[in-house]
Amino acid sequence: MSYPEIRPRRLRRNAAVRRLVSETRVDPAELVVPMFVKEGLTEPRAVASLPGVLQHSRDSLRKAAVEAVQAGVGGIMLFGVPAQRDETGSGGLDPDGILNVAIRDVIAEVGDATVVMSDLCLDEFTSHGHCGLLTPDGGVDNDATLAAYAEMAVAQADAGVHMVGPSGMMDGQVGVVRRALDAAGHQDVAVLAYAVKYASAFYGPFRDAVESALEGDRRTYQQDPANLRESLREVALDVAEGADLVMVKPALPYLDVVSAVRAAVEVPVAAYQVSGEYAMVEAAAANGWIDRERVMLETLTSIRRAGAQIILTYWAVEAAQLVRERY
Ligand code: PBG
Repeated sequence: MSYPEIRPRRLRRNAAVRRLVSETRVDPAELVVPMFVKEGLTEPRAVASLPGVLQHSRDSLRKAAVEAVQAGVGGIMLFGVPAQRDETGSGGLDPDGILNVAIRDVIAEVGDATVVMSDLCLDEFTSHGHCGLLTPDGGVDNDATLAAYAEMAVAQADAGVHMVGPSGMMDGQVGVVRRALDAAGHQDVAVLAYAVKYASAFYGPFRDAVESALEGDRRTYQQDPANLRESLREVALDVAEGADLVMVKPALPYLDVVSAVRAAVEVPVAAYQVSGEYAMVEAAAANGWIDRERVMLETLTSIRRAGAQIILTYWAVEAAQLVRERY
């Protein structure tokens, strides 16, 4: 009988050794929490399909932003839910629209203590729910939408946002936004490009959170889940147009894409763990079928290991607290 000399199990024998050799850690500074604020609310409201996530009032948003800073999260991504919508999504461009007002509120509250980011897209503001302006035959008009994004970016930067997140998947959006920001004197405002965004069914609960009016789908502008090489093309274009960071979305079903993007570019890579990813885990945990905290940290660790330095996740604040206790 011969026994093995080389025993990988020696590096797993107790928590101290495992901690020493652990290759990947989730750092609160690299977590970004998405937050929703709804015009006209006096009290925050729960989102049924996203347990634990709220539609904030302006007041509760300010408090939540302070809590996020105290937990040490690296950033806050803001989404606005307007009281009224129209064909052109004018509420997104209006300096007094809910998202721009919320940016001002959060900046007034937390200043530079964390990175304040805003979604730069029209879908929350349009009556038809698409990410852009429509052509007479109901398609999404790329170039007319770009002009709206340029104006929206400047309105968000005027409100004080640190980083804008163009997420509408219009061709040329990063370049147009960059030039508009520069022309308005906002050279310091960074562009976090949703460079890779799939036409995913995992966005379902998000659409409840923003009360999206969308009927149909976004397949003429968001990507086909079957394609990987196309993502590298999208990322290369966004970097060439001036993206400061690039994001892949969703995260867990697309870890191969995260990994390929990480290898392809030198700018920081983010991944968005989207609403459906979160809701699946919460639903299974609520049934007692999985260990909620362990699964939460395992998903975040895996996204990190695949190559995303920054993770947008609805668990950001809780995960930040959890990893503090564990490491
Ligand atoms: C577009 C946007 C969406 C999400 C983030 N930005 C929705 C969409 O493209 O349909 C989804 C995020 C999530 O599911 O958590 N404004």
